[in-house]
Amino acid sequence: MVPERVLDAAAREKIDTDDDARFYSQPRFVQHVDEAFRERLADLYAESLPAGTTVLDLMSSHVSHFPEDVEFERVLGHGMNGEELGANPYLDEFFTRDLNRKATLPVEDDALDAVTIAASIQYLQYPERVVAEIARALRPGGVLIVSFSNRCFPTKAIRAWREATMDERAALVERYLRAAGGFDSPEVVREQPGTDPFYAVVARTRSIA
Ligand SMILES: C[S@@+](CC[C@H](N)C(=O)[O-])C[C@H]1O[C@@H](n2cnc3c(N)ncnc32)[C@H](O)[C@@H]1O
Repeated sequence: MVPERVLDAAAREKIDTDDDARFYSQPRFVQHVDEAFRERLADLYAESLPAGTTVLDLMSSHVSHFPEDVEFERVLGHGMNGEELGANPYLDEFFTRDLNRKATLPVEDDALDAVTIAASIQYLQYPERVVAEIARALRPGGVLIVSFSNRCFPTKAIRAWREATMDERAALVERYLRAAGGFDSPEVVREQPGTDPFYAVVARTRSIA
């Protein structure tokens, strides 16, 4: 299915138009959100991702924020830097791909129970396409969890994100989901566990009736 368009060309623009692969060529072994955010995210994952889940951590790095005491079936990772992903202790396997150049996932239809995107969706220039790919790769009743705060690499975030308030960002993610199709109405979590605001959009793919 071809997703509807949410963003126009101006809204997809980044300040830094240089290749994303160059920006991410050096590994960054840093945290992008504060500890309270990370703990809240691990709790949300613990509530939403049962043991035995097959999960893809999309736009990942050396960390995935998964709870330590849950045994997943298989954890697939994606990101831009192989060194970071290789150091991520949660990942059973990983692939690198610039989703602004190729917005497809090398995953079969209905293969995943869950997809997570943490602190990253603002870098996607064609999020409608990527979310449509996620909907394809998730099984019916699978879950997508998109979390974000107010921090980012501003030169690499798209204009629509840079110019939006936090609530508008949550609404934007909801529009991506609607445009991609295949998801039930999402739940939006808005909290302030520490300094960094915690936002998460949690959506399930429609179950076959
Ligand atoms: C701020 S880091 C967040 C990493 C990790 N999810 C976390 O919670 O710390 C942003 C991530 O977005 C991903 N990313 C950025 N630009 C991308 C692009 N053009 N295509 C695919 N992934 C991209 C990279 O994996 C990068 O590590």
